[in-house]
Amino acid sequence: MIVFKTIKTLQTYLNTKKGGGKSIGFVPTMGALHQGHISLILKSKAQTDLTICSIFVNPTQFNNPSDLEKYPRNASADMKLLAAVKCDVLFMPNVLEMYPNGQTKNTEDYGEITQLLEGEKRPGHFDGVITIVSRLFEIIEPHETFFGQKDYQQCLLVQELINRHFPKITFNIEATVRQKDGLALSSRNTRLSEAQQIEALAISKSLFYIKQNWGNDTIENLIAAAEKMIELQKSLKIEYFKICNRTHLTALNGHSKNYKEAVILTAVFCGDIRLIDNLIV
Ligand code: PAF
Repeated sequence: MIVFKTIKTLQTYLNTKKGGGKSIGFVPTMGALHQGHISLILKSKAQTDLTICSIFVNPTQFNNPSDLEKYPRNASADMKLLAAVKCDVLFMPNVLEMYPNGQTKNTEDYGEITQLLEGEKRPGHFDGVITIVSRLFEIIEPHETFFGQKDYQQCLLVQELINRHFPKITFNIEATVRQKDGLALSSRNTRLSEAQQIEALAISKSLFYIKQNWGNDTIENLIAAAEKMIELQKSLKIEYFKICNRTHLTALNGHSKNYKEAVILTAVFCGDIRLIDNLIV
């Protein structure tokens, strides 16, 4: 695996590969890699000739400075994981390289979707995501990119970004990778104590409960039962728990049998660790 820290050296290398007709697959990450990220790398390797992973903890998408400070960072473990699956290129720039003119953010309007759920609870978060993903796409000009469905709302937004500004990039969304017990893999899980790991299982259990009972009850009752499952755990505090339209993320209500498809989305604090999860029904 070749590691680049500057845009110039990465682009010089990529130009030779693209000139040789190689297709480029790109997996953007913020590090603290787990098997969810690795599944994206493997998918990219299967579909393209050369896979690039970026690791950059993007300051402009953190609305809370202490969340940014506590975000797990482990470059040497990340590099070992990537090398083990033969990722071709790792791009690991620093903040000045990505933001040479200061930390400005996207100002283009991406509509209501940026204001709902994660957007409402983390103001400015998606402008930071759009800024950095655009910048990375401009630098790398990949043929394909790979994102995880765990960040469902982010996927909708990146799809819109690609539609508007990068129509040549093929967008791939891969299923959330879960532990055997159902917990969605997340970089933030490394901060959970053993006891918190066990309590956090209620999050995915509540989502699967709704999926199993879809069509048999009202959305309001399903949400109430799911919230109760989460709230029974001492360390868990729900920030939001919604069942929404899959495309616009508007909240659904009434009997679940009236909806053929939906997405359940939740954000839950486990102590001071914020976990998100979702499930398509
Ligand atoms: O999903 C993430 O890890 C980040 O939001 C991303 C896409 C790497 C942008 O910083």
